Amino acid sequence: MQMFEKYFVKTSKSKALYERAKKVLPAGVSYGIRYFEPYPFYVSKAKGSKLYDVDGNKYVDFWMGHGTHILGHCPPNVVEAVKKQISNGTHFGASHELEVELAEQVVRMVPSAEMVRFTNSGTEANMYAVRLARAYTGRSKIIKFEGGWHGGYDALHIGVKLPFNIPESAGITVGATQDTILASFNNLDDVEAKARKEPIAAIIVEPVLGAGGCIPAEKEFLKGLRELCDSKGALLIYDEVITGFRIAPGGAQQHYGIVPDMTVFGKILGGGFPVGAFCGRKEIMEHLNPLVYDHHSGGYAFHGGTFCANPITMTAGLATLKTLEDGKIIKDLNQKGEKVREKLTEIFEANNVDAQNTGLGSMFTTHFTKKEVKNARDTFAADRKRLMEYHLSLIQSGVFFLPTHFGSISAAHTEVDIDKLFSETENYAKSLTK
Ligand SMILES: Cc1ncc(COP(=O)(O)O)c(C=O)c1O
Repeated sequence: MQMFEKYFVKTSKSKALYERAKKVLPAGVSYGIRYFEPYPFYVSKAKGSKLYDVDGNKYVDFWMGHGTHILGHCPPNVVEAVKKQISNGTHFGASHELEVELAEQVVRMVPSAEMVRFTNSGTEANMYAVRLARAYTGRSKIIKFEGGWHGGYDALHIGVKLPFNIPESAGITVGATQDTILASFNNLDDVEAKARKEPIAAIIVEPVLGAGGCIPAEKEFLKGLRELCDSKGALLIYDEVITGFRIAPGGAQQHYGIVPDMTVFGKILGGGFPVGAFCGRKEIMEHLNPLVYDHHSGGYAFHGGTFCANPITMTAGLATLKTLEDGKIIKDLNQKGEKVREKLTEIFEANNVDAQNTGLGSMFTTHFTKKEVKNARDTFAADRKRLMEYHLSLIQSGVFFLPTHFGSISAAHTEVDIDKLFSETENYAKSLTK
């Protein structure tokens, strides 16, 4: 408990709120990963690169709303657009121009997108994307990767953490995961061997493994997946919930130059409001069209929901994508991300701490290990306890990462913010060598 001394002193109101919260919210939180020891701080306000908690503490935020806020918290142009839209209606439950505009914007920016459908989360979008791939191919099996995180949809909620071969939650039936095949990330031989055994509807992959350790796919790996899908008549799905509109205006697919059949988005697309989307070639997406396919004659894939294409989300998303479209902000953030990875590596090296800093563009994560990190097994073989301790130590010093999760740089982060990350990291590294 000694390590939390500073935190206890700084966060008495959060502690009281946690005591209240845990009576009505399991673990006192609304998402299990948001709990951390000894209790989470509770946020009262967010602006730019900062979070403020109920005790008035300020944190330089590198978690940025699960990687959502690429423009920072509350970017003025997005806030203005949303304020205007609120007085015109918060939820129509009927068709409107904003959804058309945002779909057109996505189609303009994303190489694989000819048609789009919006959802309310990345989880939902992945669920509908997998269903659509099955409807289109008439096949059941999907390949996903160890460490791949696609949200809580049953068929994809397996193989996220060690030991990888069991569902990540109680309540997931054997039936729900029996058509999901796990393969090793960045290991084409393994995928090929698995795809040889049975007909595959789709391979779903994060171009940069996010929760599995912020590990970029090797270009040859993605190229191999593309060729494999083409030769087997399977669909290649990129889960770009994190990488979409971050790595390049057209997502990681633009950066790598390897285009999938379908893409899933979330986070940045909603400009800070709940969102998800899946998109792809017209001939695939048309299976969602009840005027073309009906469920009696086969081939029709359902998608929908009360809040789909919510006008506030569409407004915020449009303002955000228009700001990112010319690629200038993204280019600058990618350079900063590169610098952060280099400098963190330098700091740990100088203090004789074994660490690897992985990521791509503006995303980054530290792994406490000597070994190169190429897949999720490497991530979980690193010293995770130390990573937790590093992040908790940063939190006490006013730098926020959700413990053990990746960080990202936004347009709101200043040199001073980034220098604070470096100096607090240095303090932590020095404390290890004392
Ligand atoms: C790559 C990836 N896919 C899907 C999801 C699920 O999205 P959501 O949390 O919006 O359901 C996430 C969430 O972090 C993610 O990182």
